[in-house]
Amino acid sequence: MLKLAVLVSGGGTNLQAIIDGIGSGTITNTQIEVVISNNRNAFALERAKKAGIKSLCVSPKDYENREAFHQGLLKALLDSKADLVVLAGYLVAIPPCVVEAFPNRIVNIHPSLIPSFCGVGYYGLKVHESALKRGVKVTGATVHFVDTGTDTGPIILQKAVEVHEGDTPEVLQRRVMEEAEWKILPRAIDLIANGKVTVEQGRAVVLEKER
Ligand code: GRF
Repeated sequence: MLKLAVLVSGGGTNLQAIIDGIGSGTITNTQIEVVISNNRNAFALERAKKAGIKSLCVSPKDYENREAFHQGLLKALLDSKADLVVLAGYLVAIPPCVVEAFPNRIVNIHPSLIPSFCGVGYYGLKVHESALKRGVKVTGATVHFVDTGTDTGPIILQKAVEVHEGDTPEVLQRRVMEEAEWKILPRAIDLIANGKVTVEQGRAVVLEKER
């Protein structure tokens, strides 16, 4: 059984997709041990409670400095005994001490086709604003392993989504979530839980892509 720690900051629709995937059996051999938010008011925490999942707030505001916060986050993750850390809309940069403790055992969902519209400063609506500004006709989402860079780790799954004439950032964000994020994040977790993802020479290899 793959044990997950899911890190969240906001609405938690990606968390909900994982909870629903486990419930419906599209994600197998997996259980969520803990949901951790940096933001006490994140609606994601309500979703965890409703699903009967342990939830915690580990906020930088409750620590003396950044280093103490990082150690607090690391401790919460180690205490959870999680095998895989899932960043599901987590808006805090993951510190090197956490990356080192979970090598190729942290996954992130990013709302573009990496390497487009990613890296420092590309989060939330900014990603979709930039895609619209550039006039791309196709965007999408990416699930990748997390390394010490920003959005630079091995890519596990990607899914393309069409951009429509007249899209606003909000409309495009919603379509990317519905058509890509809520599908490929649960799928990637199921693949990892069933031993279908390896990392070779810095690239993720998915052994069984289609279902
Ligand atoms: C998603 O677009 C995710 O890709 C991004 O932040 C958003 C989180 O949404 N990193 P939610 O909290 O899962 O609803």
